[in-house]
Amino acid sequence: MKFFADTADTADIRDLADTGLLDGVTTNPSLIHKAGRDFLEVVKEICGIVPGMPVSAEVVALDFEGMMREAEIVRKVADNVAVKVPLTIDGLKACKALTSDGTMVNVTLCFSANQALLAAKAGATFISPFVGRHDDIGYPGMDLIADIRTIYDNYAFDTEILVASVRNPIHVLEAAKIGADVMTAPPAVIRQLVKHPLTDAGIASFMADWAKTGQKIG
Ligand code: E4P
Repeated sequence: MKFFADTADTADIRDLADTGLLDGVTTNPSLIHKAGRDFLEVVKEICGIVPGMPVSAEVVALDFEGMMREAEIVRKVADNVAVKVPLTIDGLKACKALTSDGTMVNVTLCFSANQALLAAKAGATFISPFVGRHDDIGYPGMDLIADIRTIYDNYAFDTEILVASVRNPIHVLEAAKIGADVMTAPPAVIRQLVKHPLTDAGIASFMADWAKTGQKIG
């Protein structure tokens, strides 16, 4: 499963990219607001930190023509930009036009398997079903991922399932068990994945015993 960082914080992205664990980055208007930086400038910087890896940048127009106009600007920022469009009729229309032209498209704000089916039919590179926001309203978000996996496998769609709105390590584990292609999570959640109390305890006891040997390596 590929790991994308769900953030516009370039320091965090740099730090994670150094681990070799990152396969891409996703942003949205709320994350751009949080970063407090110019949209195109920050997208350009992110694209340079993870060259060759998809970086999702969201258009904010809601009509087809407006989306295409903004997409034209955004996709020129770098070769690795994936234009993010909302799951609406106009968004799907823009998806079809942009992907037919060779541009990567991430269709976002997906909350049903039927919506995911439409995005695949529109040629989406990525579909972003939001699991956390589903859980927030008492619906098991992971059921949606399993349904989309079944549908995409039934028809051999190439669209990658990009599990979004990931809030904790359980989401990552469940997404991997279902066979999602990608998950995008805040850097803090990605860092949480490495933590285990028995790993920490094991390191502490090995270090204590090693100190008793009085040896050094090298
Ligand atoms: C990423 O593409 C989504 O915009 C993001 O994961 C949404 O996460 P949230 O529901 O925590 O805001």
